Amino acid sequence: MERSLVLVKPDGVQRGLIGEVIARFERRGLRLVGAKFMQVSLDLAKQHYAEHEGKPFYDGLIAYITSAPVMAMVWEGPNAVAAIRQTVGSTKPVESAPGTIRHDFGLEVGRNLIHASDKPETGVREVELWFKNDELVDWTRDVDRWVFEK
Ligand code: RTP
Ligand code: MG
Repeated sequence: MERSLVLVKPDGVQRGLIGEVIARFERRGLRLVGAKFMQVSLDLAKQHYAEHEGKPFYDGLIAYITSAPVMAMVWEGPNAVAAIRQTVGSTKPVESAPGTIRHDFGLEVGRNLIHASDKPETGVREVELWFKNDELVDWTRDVDRWVFEK
């Protein structure tokens, strides 16, 4: 089953939006696999955002993600990465579609509330980076057959 890392970033945590984010993914039918509330270390921030090193917004991005605790989660489902990116919305909140998380709660790209893996391969890499195997739960829900076709 495809998996995505999802982070409620420090602004989402500070603004009391953890429950709102979880509710949206639960309603979508996605299955929660792991979750932890944590302070991001500088080392983890740099590994997570390695692809952005050298870009003008990099220092601000590292400062942002390490500024306060995050809620880190793994969600799974068929096409989970695309489904989650759709629910999250575009990187810039003012370009996000109405009804998406970034549209409904955000204004600025540097305070866009949430992170989600951008490709299935990225999902695999990011889940490995953020979670140990024994922090992830393999389980099924009674409702799965009414959400997943196979
Ligand atoms: P994310 O990785 O957080 O899910 O967001 P994303 O894929 O939509 O965006 P990405 O290009 O990966 O950028 C990572 C995060 O960097 C910040 N950013 N700031 N000031 C800027 O132009 C700028 N561009 C990106 C955002 O917080 C973005 O989520
Ligand atoms: Mg990204």
